[in-house]
Amino acid sequence: MPTPQEATRMRSGTASDTAHLTARVRAADAVVEPSRRLLDDRFAALFVTEPPPPATSDEALQRLGAIDHAHGGFLAEILLRQRFFEHELIRSVADGVRQVVMLGAGYDTTALRMPGYDGLRYFEVDHPATQRAKLATLAQEMLSTPSVTYVPHDFEAGGSLVGALAEAGFDPAQPCIVGWLGVTFFLQPGALHQALAELAEICTAGSVLVFDYMDESVIDGTTPYRGALEMARKVGAEGEPYLTGLTPQSAAEAVRRAGFWPMEELRVPDLVKRFGGNDPYCNGDDFMGVMAAERAGNGEAA
Ligand SMILES: C[S@@+](CC[C@H](N)C(=O)[O-])C[C@H]1O[C@@H](n2cnc3c(N)ncnc32)[C@H](O)[C@@H]1O
Repeated sequence: MPTPQEATRMRSGTASDTAHLTARVRAADAVVEPSRRLLDDRFAALFVTEPPPPATSDEALQRLGAIDHAHGGFLAEILLRQRFFEHELIRSVADGVRQVVMLGAGYDTTALRMPGYDGLRYFEVDHPATQRAKLATLAQEMLSTPSVTYVPHDFEAGGSLVGALAEAGFDPAQPCIVGWLGVTFFLQPGALHQALAELAEICTAGSVLVFDYMDESVIDGTTPYRGALEMARKVGAEGEPYLTGLTPQSAAEAVRRAGFWPMEELRVPDLVKRFGGNDPYCNGDDFMGVMAAERAGNGEAA
């Protein structure tokens, strides 16, 4: 009998269902009336199969409210971590960065919404199964993404991320911004730390890494947030278990060890406060964090 770690969707080569869940949330948000919309991802609906996206703002708010009631904190994190990332992306581009690496990109649509934005090149790295599903939808919708190079890579399979990106034309001598959102907690600790070590090789000085993590207490079952535990149970039952958690301290230590300076960290309530507007429709249960870290220069201790 395989352990939960062995019997994952990713290992069996099935596209990620949590990537679909993320797209469903973003597609519903895009239907919410503009004054209460949190992200405005007009392409997310392309990737939604069942159930189809809501037709009206009221229906969208009802659906999102039900998820928020059952699993407080997830809506805010899914929608607003992306706002935080895009804020960092715009800042990096102003600083001259022209390479964007999306790790575990799923149905992320940043490249569709900001395609040739000042000559950016995107490298979307994802598990081959999820990436195939994304590419099939893009082809079906006849949407071309000339600014994107798709890089199939399984973080758990022992291959080299550095090698895969080099083969795809990524230039490690030029700075980049890396978005690693909604992924770290699905990896085994070894794969997570291996990826961080490889990021240090990919990211020259001045590069920025934005990643999120889930609290260790969700993984070990001691968190007081019942909605988080219930989500952990559900995704585990669907074959995408949460495997690795961090704390604000261990997340900062891990990036420092890899040679990055932690610049800013927002917990879910901070995300809601900064990006949620006057009347956010989601609550801020506090069991996840998103961090921006900068690659230290040669010889600098991080
Ligand atoms: C919750 S989705 C997040 C998608 C996207 N980053 C977002 O924020 O919408 C998790 C993503 O991690 C990817 N993933 C999970 N395990 C992986 C692995 N071992 N190797 C590569 N990608 C993996 C899945 O394919 C999926 O795209």
